[in-house]
Amino acid sequence: MLSLSASAMPRTLDPEVRSALAARIRYYNEMGIYDFYRRPLSDPSGEVAATIAVDEAETAVLANQPVLGAEMSPRKAAAVAIPIVEENIFEVIALKPEQSVSDPAKALKIIREDLGDCTRCVLHKQGRKQIVFGVGNPKADLMFVGEGPGADEDEKGEPFVGRAGQLLNNMIKAMGIDREQVYIANIVKCRPPGNRTPEREECETCSPFLMRQIAVVKPKVIVALGAVAAKTLLAMSASMAQLRGRFYDFRPTGIRSNDPNWDGCKLAVTYHPAFLLRDPRQKGEAWKDLQMVMKELGMKAPKQTT
Ligand code: URA
Repeated sequence: MLSLSASAMPRTLDPEVRSALAARIRYYNEMGIYDFYRRPLSDPSGEVAATIAVDEAETAVLANQPVLGAEMSPRKAAAVAIPIVEENIFEVIALKPEQSVSDPAKALKIIREDLGDCTRCVLHKQGRKQIVFGVGNPKADLMFVGEGPGADEDEKGEPFVGRAGQLLNNMIKAMGIDREQVYIANIVKCRPPGNRTPEREECETCSPFLMRQIAVVKPKVIVALGAVAAKTLLAMSASMAQLRGRFYDFRPTGIRSNDPNWDGCKLAVTYHPAFLLRDPRQKGEAWKDLQMVMKELGMKAPKQTT
């Protein structure tokens, strides 16, 4: 938790605190609260109140519950102390260019064009051969999100085409559907060198494009494959044991919905196929996760033919 020392307050928020605040704002939005104003401050610099706000958000996120009783009132505006930051996380989010296009395949193309020959993070100069955008049904009910491309994906320009991809295909088949029916993407679109885990900054730089892809595909359920996907999408830090076994309500961050028929979806977390290759004993657990997803989607597993 942060100290109340005004002088110690940084002017730019720590990414974790920023994520916490963003999650808090989403929480307010879900309660129908959209307008925020600064609480009058006896401290003219605003830094003490800013620290308190950050402190509260942090506490709430750690405890996974609302903090201020007053915030639960049905008013349409909440008096919260907001930090002085260089970027304004309360700014009105504009519609994205693809949101004026009704054909999801075309909308995805717009996002791909916007991404361009991306140089937004260091991964562009660390040996990537190509950007791995995403693949599958642009109207899929089910979407899988992995961590980032490996060597095979980097070579082919398609997610999950290596050994982990073969296992993912088998998992999808076991659900009674084909790979072509789902949409598959990753948190980062460029291969991290030596298949290292993508850095948080790389995830944060790249994931807004994934959020846009999700908002176009409008799945009913997202399956986050592994901890990196889960933690990035949910903006929370927890172990796989804590993250699995339940659904989360998910809305793509930074996207203003313009579709009355889609206001987010369910998100489930399961093990990454690469982890299952290393520890096949966990496949049964992953299957339980997928069965939970199938139930939500009203799917029945095909009969085993042995
Ligand atoms: N692992 C991932 O997370 N994504 C891929 O596309 C391939 C392997």
